[in-house]
Amino acid sequence: SFVRAKKTFLSVTHAGNSSLLHKFCQSLHTSTPSLAKVVAVLYEAGAAAKEPRLLGCKENELGLRKFLESRGHKYIVMSDKEKLLDRELPDTEVLITTPFHPAYVTADRIAMSPKLKLCVTAGVGSDHVDLHAANKAKITVAEVTGSNVVSVAEHIVMQILALVRNFVPAYGQVIKGEWNVGDIAKDAFDLENKVVGTVGAGRIGYRVLERLKPFHCKELLYSDYQPLTPEMERAVGVKHVSFEELIQRCDVITINCPLHDKTRNLFNKDVFDKVKTGVYIVNTARGAIVDRDALVEAVKSGKVRGYAGDVWYPQPAPKDHPWRYMPRHAMTPHYSGTTLDAQMRYAEGTKDILERYFDGRPIKPEDLIVQDGQFASKAYVQPEK
Ligand code: NAI
Repeated sequence: SFVRAKKTFLSVTHAGNSSLLHKFCQSLHTSTPSLAKVVAVLYEAGAAAKEPRLLGCKENELGLRKFLESRGHKYIVMSDKEKLLDRELPDTEVLITTPFHPAYVTADRIAMSPKLKLCVTAGVGSDHVDLHAANKAKITVAEVTGSNVVSVAEHIVMQILALVRNFVPAYGQVIKGEWNVGDIAKDAFDLENKVVGTVGAGRIGYRVLERLKPFHCKELLYSDYQPLTPEMERAVGVKHVSFEELIQRCDVITINCPLHDKTRNLFNKDVFDKVKTGVYIVNTARGAIVDRDALVEAVKSGKVRGYAGDVWYPQPAPKDHPWRYMPRHAMTPHYSGTTLDAQMRYAEGTKDILERYFDGRPIKPEDLIVQDGQFASKAYVQPEK
């Protein structure tokens, strides 16, 4: 009876919208068929998955299984970002990925996914999807905007302080049973009276500025082609400058712009040659914004006094990634935006996006990155100079 109902439905609507089909079947009191195939690629947490609030891991499935299956959808969750994913892609309609364990949704993968309609980023930052290829294929890419921006802003402040105050070697002395105050103090400073700048003053960049205000920095600067309102600038006491001015004047630079065509390798040898000698850099935006080898050289030479952040390319960072071994760094694995608080928010936000999609309701405009073959977010479209 379902096959007959489905045929009738399709002949009437010519649409194949799975949610309408689902409602139609319910109205006919037929059993719910498997409607859409939803695939999620999430990091494996092992024993840590016993913590039920660790929603964003493979084991806890973003808490979506009941919701999706009760609506008749098929939900497949994996951590494999290669072969297993490739096997599922040809008939996947919705793909959920996360920046913490990014499945790289390349043009080739999009080409092998003719049924793919929606890519949802559980978190913020959708650069792991080839957005140009998604546009060509008219695939919608949405993310849970704002879901973890506080979590990242807090991490940035922590890492700025870790670098400026030389925390890592100090802690290292303690756990190694050593005690040599001079050796730590010779490279430790106060944040007060330093010039700090953010490249990108969107949701995260602005929250960092808000959190830095009480530290009485000498100046707070930002570069962004979407300037803040004068009220927002006044509220935190920040000045809008060009990228060139920012990199030349800052004692501390924090990178908070998305990875797109114009920010890939933005911090390259030319930029490291121009920065103030002894600058600290914190990058929680994306690893590929910084030229891997040029950074290692700049840190080794002392041009960059310290580097921190939690983003790498690729991820997981291979064991031989040179940032693991360069001097004076305070890097962590990519976890700033996946605190338990953040996970709750992006799990809820992912569900909201899916509900809207399956109900045929519009996805919240702020969550859209690309739709109908166009960029919906201005943050990925830097104007030509
Ligand atoms: P947002 O969209 O609110 O702000 C990004 C800002 O960067 C926008 O104002 C945009 O105009 C600006 N921008 C773009 N290109 C620029 C350039 N070349 N120079 C200066 N500014 C530029 O995004 P939000 O929420 O602040 O996130 C920013 C990025 O942080 C994300 O795209 C993502 O890559 C990263 N992120 C990292 C997380 C982590 O766990 N490490 C978690 C969340 C986001």
